[in-house]
Amino acid sequence: MTDQRPITTTDAGIPAPSDHDSLSVGPNGPLLLQDHYLIQKMAQFNRERVPERVVHAKGGGAFGFMEITEDVSQFTKAKLFQKGARTDLLLRFSTVAGELGFPDTVRDPRGFAMKFYTEDGNYDLVGNNTPVFFIRDPSKFSDFIHSQKRRSDNHLHDHNMQWDFWTLRTESAHQVTFLMSDRGTPYSWRHMNGYGSHTFMWINAAGEKFWVKYHFKTDQGIRNFTDTEAAETTALDRDFHLRDLSRAISAGEHPSWTVQVQIMPFEDAADYRFNPFDLTKIWPHGDYPPITIGRFTLNRNPDDYFTQIEQAAFEPANMVPGIAASPDKMLQGRLFSYPDTHRYRIGPNYLQLPVNRPRVPVHSYNKDGAMRYENYGDPVYAPNSVGGPQADPSPYEGESYSVTGEIVRAAYTLHAEDDDYGQPRALYDNVLSETDRANLANNIVGHASRPEVTAEVKARVVEYWRNVSKHLGDNVARGLGVNGS
Ligand code: NDP
Ligand code: HEM
Repeated sequence: MTDQRPITTTDAGIPAPSDHDSLSVGPNGPLLLQDHYLIQKMAQFNRERVPERVVHAKGGGAFGFMEITEDVSQFTKAKLFQKGARTDLLLRFSTVAGELGFPDTVRDPRGFAMKFYTEDGNYDLVGNNTPVFFIRDPSKFSDFIHSQKRRSDNHLHDHNMQWDFWTLRTESAHQVTFLMSDRGTPYSWRHMNGYGSHTFMWINAAGEKFWVKYHFKTDQGIRNFTDTEAAETTALDRDFHLRDLSRAISAGEHPSWTVQVQIMPFEDAADYRFNPFDLTKIWPHGDYPPITIGRFTLNRNPDDYFTQIEQAAFEPANMVPGIAASPDKMLQGRLFSYPDTHRYRIGPNYLQLPVNRPRVPVHSYNKDGAMRYENYGDPVYAPNSVGGPQADPSPYEGESYSVTGEIVRAAYTLHAEDDDYGQPRALYDNVLSETDRANLANNIVGHASRPEVTAEVKARVVEYWRNVSKHLGDNVARGLGVNGS
């Protein structure tokens, strides 16, 4: 039996002397520095962890493919969105505020990060399970995240910090409405939608430009936990979502999502009733109806979590010809942030790791650095007269648009109907059912009634929700025992 098994080796491939015993002076004696194998095992173990993601640390994912069934070539020339295209992908789901090992089923937005391995290189669409976000300027991102993570003094999550920040930055109200609703505690990753959230640019073969938003509608149907169910599940299984996805795929229940886009003609953006680049806003479906263009399916679990999920590196800056950035300030900030964090967290050559490397040849003049796996050979400079790679600007024709203005630090210019409360109000008044509304109020009260939340912050919480809806604010006031109407 044992002779069928491979022989243990050191990481250098040398036969290992023992699986169990260190090299000692006699069976009871001290150990010897010359036991290279023991030292390699201990040293490698000490280095097993890379830093966890500064946000979205706890997650899981799977591989699959997207198929495009409709012709949207009038809007984009991106090859992955042409009718009939089938593109392999990786999707990583995550919670935001917790660390590695944090429970899956707590109230939090969920990350929905996609990497498409296209024939034009990798396209990364790094979204959430909500169509909007808490802030609209990237300079507020670290402040926002600090308020959601742990305090400096006692290392505790603190609901007072969270409500203090949210109520002082009222652009958060739309996303906090999603978060406090039952969509803030999804039953599983399979049962939630994904959204690209930002507005992106699409460019067609004729060089015409459009603005686009992505929606990924779960084919499993939306299913959420109530607050109580989420708490009970957290107590029983901290990895409920990870286990659910892994089990479903292993059992052949391959989850899928319908791919939809909203398309806005380029010229509409200037005087649309909302600022179409403001990440705290959706585009109402009545204005820009979602168009179904295809479906994606997850059909393969990772076979090595660390190398395929923990080391996966998503970056909104990875866009392929036919897709470009919009002037959304949050997107612009993210274009810098992700590759920067990957260089720190994984190392400068993270794009050479199997899960991150594109499925097309790379011809780059970048070279060397820590843990470089391969270089591309000479010549190592451009221009050169010895036949090195040459850039081709033609796939990017048409992406340009003109921008003028003073250099300022200022909020977005307001469009006719821009305000912080109108869209959460529409969600509350027109979309949520009676049960959803009751659960929303209960969830807010449960969250804001924690002992650390001060009376002053509670009063602001009530005011915040009264601005969304008097009905909701009054219910929250009653639940929190705050006076006034
Ligand atoms: P619509 O009535 O056309 O669309 C409302 C959308 O809300 C639905 O299509 C559904 O989108 C989503 N929805 C349904 N139930 C819930 C729920 N319990 N919690 C959160 N979202 C839900 O109205 P508008 O497009 O004019 O939008 C009205 C409000 O709906 C917005 O202010 C926004 O808060 C919310 N909403 C709008 C979305 C959009 O892109 N227009 C997307 C999601 C929410 P889905 O299938 O994506 O869940
Ligand atoms: C992860 C920064 C806004 C979705 C991260 C990470 C950073 C970061 C540094 C860790 C990445 C890693 O270590 O791999 C920022 C900044 C933002 C911002 C600076 C705003 C200026 C957003 C928004 C969304 C989002 C608006 C969604 C719409 C995600 C997701 C992940 C992530 C899904 C996890 C990716 C993964 O699974 O590896 N973000 N973020 N972020 N962010 Fe953001």
